[in-house]
Amino acid sequence: MRTATSHGKRFVGFLVAVAAVALLFASDQSAQAQKVLRWKFEQGQTFQWKTSQNADITVTIKDMEQATTSSFSMTMGMFVKEVADSVASLEVSMDRFQMAMEVAGQKMEYDTDSDEVQEGIGEVFARTFEPLMAMTYTIKMDDRGEIVDVIVPEESMKMLESMPGMQQFGKMFSKEAMQDMSSTGWLTLPEEGLSVGDSWDMKSETDNPILGKQIAAAHFTYEGPEEVDGKTLEKIVMDMDMEFDENIQNELGLKMKVEDMTLSGTFYFDAEAGRLNNSEIKQQMEADLEAGGQSMHQVMDGTVSTTITERKPDTAEEDSGSTESEN
Ligand SMILES: *[C@@H]1O[C@H](CO)[C@@H](O)[C@H](O)[C@H]1NC(C)=O
Repeated sequence: MRTATSHGKRFVGFLVAVAAVALLFASDQSAQAQKVLRWKFEQGQTFQWKTSQNADITVTIKDMEQATTSSFSMTMGMFVKEVADSVASLEVSMDRFQMAMEVAGQKMEYDTDSDEVQEGIGEVFARTFEPLMAMTYTIKMDDRGEIVDVIVPEESMKMLESMPGMQQFGKMFSKEAMQDMSSTGWLTLPEEGLSVGDSWDMKSETDNPILGKQIAAAHFTYEGPEEVDGKTLEKIVMDMDMEFDENIQNELGLKMKVEDMTLSGTFYFDAEAGRLNNSEIKQQMEADLEAGGQSMHQVMDGTVSTTITERKPDTAEEDSGSTESEN
C-alpha cells in the first residue's frame, strides 16, 4: 500500500511535471508571439523630429468659396539629457520652421533658414517665428512614450509671453496640453505585449488655447511587422474620435463650432531602435466659424507627417564608434 501510495504520488508528480512543461512551453510560445514595444533612449543621443502638416482648406462665406492650400513644417532637435528609472529627459529645440500658402491664387512662402528680407505678411511671420527658434523645452517621457512632465525654461516662457498674440500659446507647452501627442503623430505604447491584431484604447482630455476643451478617444490596432527597405518596422493603425466644446470661444475672438472631425493614422515603430520611425495622420474637419461679425463654414482635409531620425555627431565619429553602436 505504501508502494501504491508512493506510486500514486509519483504518478501525480509526473502529471504535474508534464503540465508544468506544457505550461512553460505554452507561455514560451505566447512570449514568442507577443512583442512588448518600448521607446529606448540613451543619454547623449540626439534625434531630429520633423513634423509637417499639409492641408487643403475650403472656406465658404455666404455663397463664396475660397480654397487655401497650406503646408507647415517644423524641424526640431531632441537631445537625451538623462535617463533615470525608464524616464528620459528630452531637450527639444526648434531648428527650422517652413511654410507655404496659396490663397486665392496668391502664393506665400516663409522659411526661417532663408536669408531673404521679408516684406508684408512675410515680415509678420519673420517677427513671430524667428524668436520662436530660440525656444527650448524639456519633455520627460517614460518608455511607453507617455509624457510625465513638460518643463519650459523661464527665458522661453518670457519670450512667448512678450510676443504679441502669443501669450495663449504658452499654455500649449503645458503637460496637460502635450499629454496626448498621438493626434500629432507621436506614439504612446500599451503596457502589454502585443500579438498581431491586438487593439487598445487611449482617452485623453486637453485644453487647447484655440480649440478649447477636447476629448480624444483613440483606438489603436497592431498590424504586425512589415519589412520596408530591409528594415523591420511594427505597423500600428489608429482611429480617433474627437469631441469638442459645443461652442468654442477663444481669446483670439474666434467663435467656432466643430461639426465633424475624424482622424486616422498609421505609425511605423522601430522595435529594435526603440523609437517611432514615422507616422502619418489624416485629419478631416468641418466647422462653423464666426470672426469679426462674419460667419463662415470651413472644410479641412489635412495630413500630418512625422519622422524621427537619429542625428549622429558627425561622420568621422560615426565611423570610429560604429563597433560600439553595434551592441
Ligand atoms: C522610415 O523613415 C524614413 C525617414 O526617416 C522613411 O524614408 C521611410 O519611408 C520610413 N519607413 C516607412 C515604412 O515608412
